[in-house]
This record gives sequence, C-alpha cells and structure tokens, in this order.
Amino acid sequence: MRIFNSISEYGLLAKLFHWVTFIVLIAQVPFGFYLVGLEFSDERIELENIHILVGITIFYLTLFRLIWKFLNPRPKEWKSHFKGQALIASVNHFLLYLTIFAITVSGILKKLYMGETLNFIFFKYGFEKDNFVLADTFYQIHIYANYLLLALVTLHILAVIVHHFIFKEKILKKIT
Ligand code: HEM
Ligand code: HEM
Repeated sequence: MRIFNSISEYGLLAKLFHWVTFIVLIAQVPFGFYLVGLEFSDERIELENIHILVGITIFYLTLFRLIWKFLNPRPKEWKSHFKGQALIASVNHFLLYLTIFAITVSGILKKLYMGETLNFIFFKYGFEKDNFVLADTFYQIHIYANYLLLALVTLHILAVIVHHFIFKEKILKKIT
C-alpha cells in the first residue's frame, strides 16, 4: 500500500491518521463528560491528567495530519450525484479539523488561564498570571465545541451511509 495519497484513494499515513484519531476521540469525548461528574479526589486529578495528555496528543496528531494533507494530492469525488456535493464534503472536513483544534486549544487555554503549568510532552509551559474569567470562557468553548464535534461526526457518518447504501458507492474503500 502506498504511503502517499493518490487522486482516487487516501494513502497509508492519511488512513492511519483518520482511524487512530477516530478511536482516540470515541474514548476521549465520553471520558471528558465522565470526568466532570466526579467528586474532587486524587483519582480525579490523575484522570484529568490522562485526559489532558491524550488531548494534547490529539492536538499534535491533527497538526501533523494537516501538514501531511497539504503535502499530498486530495482524493477526488468518484462521481458527483448533485450540485455542490464536493463543496459540502469539503466544508464538513474543514469544520471537523477546526472543531478538533477548537476543543484542544480551548482545553489548553482553560488550564493555562487557571494559572497551571502544562506538560506539552516536549516541554512544559505556564502563564505568569491567572485569569479565571478567561479560563471559564475557554471552558465554555471546550464544552460547546464538543457538542459541535458530535453533530459534525454524525453528519459525516450519515454521508458515508448515503454514499454506501443509496448511491451504491464503495466510499469506505477510499479510507480503509
Ligand atoms: C471521530 C470521528 C471522525 C472524524 C473526526 C473524521 C474526520 C474525517 C476527515 C477530517 C476527513 C477528510 C480527510 C481529508 O481529506 O483531509 C474524513 C474522510 C473520510 N471519513 Fe471520516 N472521520 C470520522 C469518522 C469516520 C467514520 C466512523 C467513517 C466511516 C463510517 C468515516 C469515513 C470517512 C470516509 C469514507 C472519508 C473519505 C471521504 C472522501 O474523501 O470522500 N469517518 N474523515
Ligand atoms: C480532542 C480532545 C479533547 C476532547 C474530545 C475533550 C473532551 C472533553 C469533554 C467532553 C469534557 C466535559 C465537558 C463538560 O461537560 O463539562 C472535557 C472536560 C475537560 N477537558 Fe477536555 N477534551 C479534549 C482535550 C482537552 C485538552 C487538550 C485539555 C487541556 C490541556 C482538556 C482539559 C479539560 C478540562 C480541564 C476539563 C474539565 C475537567 C473539570 O474541571 O471538571 N481537554 N473535555
């Protein structure tokens, strides 16, 4: 299997980025909602640290994925079934990337404005001063961006179902 994309199919690395992100995200979103419901304890701090480490890993993964995307050709639509189809797919993909960045960056800024030092894996960093108002704003963004992600992923999967069962296109072959 080729590492690079072709104009009809994603390459090995793009496929790996897609499915690793998918698997990590289906664990990370419910994990986040579970975390906020826990009472304050050492175990909760431990779980929050795992949530943050996984979240920062998703941030790097998405960054590398985008760099890789721009170094590769974009697999084209196999067949256009209605006007604007390619545009809708591109907007959905763009918003998926944007939302993943919104979630990870807002999570990071929430913690930094709380006055905490974060482990960015390759280095540690913290702000000099806290700002609880901004910390809360970024936390709200963190929550709403998660709901937006759920909506976009639902649309994304519905589109795959329509292509597969209604347009009778083996669209999954592009990414598997
Ligand atoms: C967390 C869940 C998911 C996210 C965030 C996600 C994200 C994305 C993104 C950003 C792309 C565009 C890749 C690019 O060109 O840069 C894409 C393509 C694709 N995804 Fe997903 N995806 C998810 C789940 C799924 C699932 C569950 C399926 C299958 C049921 C799927 C099937 C596809 C297919 C077939 C494409 C290629 C579409 C095309 O090029 O026409 N994805 N996905
Ligand atoms: C794509 C990656 C991530 C996803 C899907 C995600 C998801 C979530 C979700 C669903 C919640 C629960 C929100 C609520 O209902 O109150 C949450 C909470 C939280 N997230 Fe994330 N998150 C991600 C990355 C990050 C990152 C990178 C950080 C920080 C560096 C972070 C820090 C937090 C914090 C501090 C909480 C609240 C815990 C608490 O104080 O109760 N998250 N996250």
